[in-house]
Amino acid sequence: MKSFSSLAKSVKFTQIGSETRLDEKDADLEFIGRGRSAYVFKIRGTNKVLKVFFAPFEKIAKEEANIYTILQGIHYYPNIYEHGPNYLVIDYIAGDTLFNCLVKGIAVTEAQISEIDYALDMARARNLNPSDIHLRNILITKEGRIKIIDVARFRQTKKCKQWDDLKSAFYRLYRRRLFPKKAPEWVLNLIAFLYKKRLISALP
Ligand SMILES: Nc1ncnc2c1ncn2[C@@H]1O[C@H](COP(=O)(O)OP(=O)(O)OP(=O)(O)O)[C@@H](O)[C@H]1O
Ligand SMILES: [Mg+2]
Repeated sequence: MKSFSSLAKSVKFTQIGSETRLDEKDADLEFIGRGRSAYVFKIRGTNKVLKVFFAPFEKIAKEEANIYTILQGIHYYPNIYEHGPNYLVIDYIAGDTLFNCLVKGIAVTEAQISEIDYALDMARARNLNPSDIHLRNILITKEGRIKIIDVARFRQTKKCKQWDDLKSAFYRLYRRRLFPKKAPEWVLNLIAFLYKKRLISALP
């Protein structure tokens, strides 16, 4: 099997303004997602993913790897296998992000919200400060269990209230019987954009 570092080296990006375009990658890498700082690929024939950071964010690889190491043994977080100057290798999580659950209309339960709280408390018990907890960083597995990814900001000192705001929206709105359990992607992106610009807050 090819080494993780050679797979990471096969990934080539071009920065076009604020956009990062993927130009090349090894055929063993299957694109599964992207965020503000990286592209994520499933490594074919394995249950692992390779997260490759864009040039301006490469430093995050080491920080995120250190945090995953602190979290090892808590099954709500993926295991980490290797990291390099601009990449991480962690468990692949088969399932849907909470964002996709809303797009597809997969119901999210109160028990799952409590499980997320419990997973975050377990990170706190290891002296971390869970931050940047948003809909694309939480996955629900096929068995309905939760997993949290993208832990790079768990050592920031500033308090992050994103998860408290999401929980508040869950209890005040989503849980209501007539509240729609499915929303088009553009509507969710618009809500996220307005929230980030502080044009909407934790809701009524
Ligand atoms: N281990 C994994 N298993 C399955 N899917 C994953 C995994 N890691 C990442 N993904 C997918 O890739 C997307 C981007 O990954 P990630 O959140 O780690 O990137 P990021 O650039 O750090 O994101 P952000 O914009 O939140 O800072 C996730 O939202 C998810 O859909
Ligand atoms: Mg993310």
